Amino acid sequence: MANKSLAKQPSDLCVLVTGGAGFIGSHTCIELLDRGYSVVVVDDLSNSSQVALDRVRSIAGLAPDDGRLRFYEASILDRDALERIFSENDVDVIIHFAGFKAVGESVQKPLEYYWNNIAGTLVLCEVAREHGVKNIVFSSSATVYGEPEFIPITEDCPKHEATNPYGQTKSMLEQILTDLYIGDDEWNVVLLRYFNPIGAHESGLIGEDPKGIPNNLLPYVAQVAVGKLASVGVFGDDYPTPDGTGVRDYIHVVDLARGHVAALDWMGGRVGTGEARGLGSIAGAPAEDGTRRGVGIFNLGTGKGSSVLDVIHAFEKACGHELPYEIKPRRAGDIAENYAACDKARDELGWVAEYDLDRMCADSWRWQSTNPDGYATGVSA
Ligand code: UFG
Repeated sequence: MANKSLAKQPSDLCVLVTGGAGFIGSHTCIELLDRGYSVVVVDDLSNSSQVALDRVRSIAGLAPDDGRLRFYEASILDRDALERIFSENDVDVIIHFAGFKAVGESVQKPLEYYWNNIAGTLVLCEVAREHGVKNIVFSSSATVYGEPEFIPITEDCPKHEATNPYGQTKSMLEQILTDLYIGDDEWNVVLLRYFNPIGAHESGLIGEDPKGIPNNLLPYVAQVAVGKLASVGVFGDDYPTPDGTGVRDYIHVVDLARGHVAALDWMGGRVGTGEARGLGSIAGAPAEDGTRRGVGIFNLGTGKGSSVLDVIHAFEKACGHELPYEIKPRRAGDIAENYAACDKARDELGWVAEYDLDRMCADSWRWQSTNPDGYATGVSA
């Protein structure tokens, strides 16, 4: 079956967002709705809450029964559910977030991670193809670069072996989606390699809501700030970085969400130069309708590195008090430093991150302080 054309206005396009109730997914739904897209979310709520979608509706000004945002509670492993979703909705393109994402847990539960992330994506792509949808944006990660060969990391920096099953799934799925295009040049694939997404929507209504003790730095710092945790453990202060602590490229989740909207414009031939995919991507001849074909690869980051201590101090400014921290040993598998070269996303997608670390922390604090228990006690806004 021929691929669905993306050469239409956003108001004529329907986006299937897998994992759309999650942290990045929910923020992306808002940006899509703002641009006029119709959105269908499939999410099994294994690490997310339907309250997030109620709040997305409220932020986007949609009535609860507005069909521009539809929700299906289902796993992407559930072929029958996906069949139903594709039959009931005229989906044009998929933004695929759904997946398990805890690095440490993935080491303990490799079977669950490979099954959910890999097999789930295979089922998704198979059902999509049967319904003539061969347009997909995939939520990849800077983790595919492993210990990076150079910094700032460009998209043609060689991929390295991931140190955990979670990272392996990201890397393998990039390969699987690339092979789909190699086998059938109607596929239009974008791989977005995220650096470290943090922050929250400025409304304070949606944000990151990790289950249990957070693994990642920002939610941990936020919970110390709100008094739920006693002190931040800083994993190592003897790295070859300016203050000895690990350096990462933190990006505001709203900027990241907008990167996905830019990717849709690019796939539809509405932005970009038309040919110069370059840097790791595989260019295909554009389709007759001007939409792209091939595999586009983009880093989404700010291009600026911040240390663990920079983050703690920026959050102190946001919350207005000092945050206790203690230096701990290095965490296994961590690298000293990474940050993105973002020139390709700027030149091709016309996208740049706008918000700085202070803004990320201010928005994160607004979310955390008004929702100290995340969505647990949340009611529809
Ligand atoms: N850190 C601490 N204390 C904590 C948590 C983290 O000091 O309690 C440090 C880490 O050592 C690291 C930095 O804070 O230097 C950031 O750590 P995160 O766990 O927040 O993020 P990572 O960079 O380790 O991981 C992120 C994503 C992964 C992705 C990885 C590689 O969470 O999904 O980047 O791109 F795989």
